[in-house]
Amino acid sequence: MNNNILIAYFTWSGNLRKMAKEIQIQTDGYLYEITPQNAYPNDYFQTIYMVQKENEEDFFPKLKSEIDIKKYDIIFIGSPVWWYTIAPPVKTFLKTHDFTGKKIAPFISYGDNGIGTIEADILQLAKGAKLMNALKIFGTGESEHKNEIDCWVEQLKIF
Ligand SMILES: Cc1cc2nc3c(=O)[nH]c(=O)nc-3n(C[C@H](O)[C@H](O)[C@H](O)COP(=O)(O)O)c2cc1C
Repeated sequence: MNNNILIAYFTWSGNLRKMAKEIQIQTDGYLYEITPQNAYPNDYFQTIYMVQKENEEDFFPKLKSEIDIKKYDIIFIGSPVWWYTIAPPVKTFLKTHDFTGKKIAPFISYGDNGIGTIEADILQLAKGAKLMNALKIFGTGESEHKNEIDCWVEQLKIF
């Protein structure tokens, strides 16, 4: 286990989990799933509607578990693009921790509507963090992305 690397991610339909697991294989970091206390609905359109409302209200959902990020120097942050920005549980994670002196490597999955302002939004919430080059993957996070993920981790030059 690499004690100074954290891989924190949120997923709704599973793509980010696959990406996070591949990053874990490459870095031997600690895998942490960001889970909201109240799960989103299973239904796609209900979730779309709920997230739209949460964003309008600038809502930060409570998370199920706490993690102390002090000991980690490099933090991989995984989020799907939701409504052109970070998913609300990831917003909570970024807002409630102190990232001073830490490097953040965002990994993002998105669909047809594009990534919007997600990178700028991550930087704005993660106070004190230094943003590394982000990985942005269109679509499924299936195994064909393994190479893309591995190359991205390599070019971060964290080892
Ligand atoms: C509530 C919601 C909002 C979304 N908004 C966007 C968006 O603004 N732009 C986009 O390209 N994809 C959007 N998507 C698609 C997801 O980003 C994409 O399917 C992603 O791969 C899902 O990752 P996951 O399987 O880890 O949840 C949205 C999906 C959901 C459920």
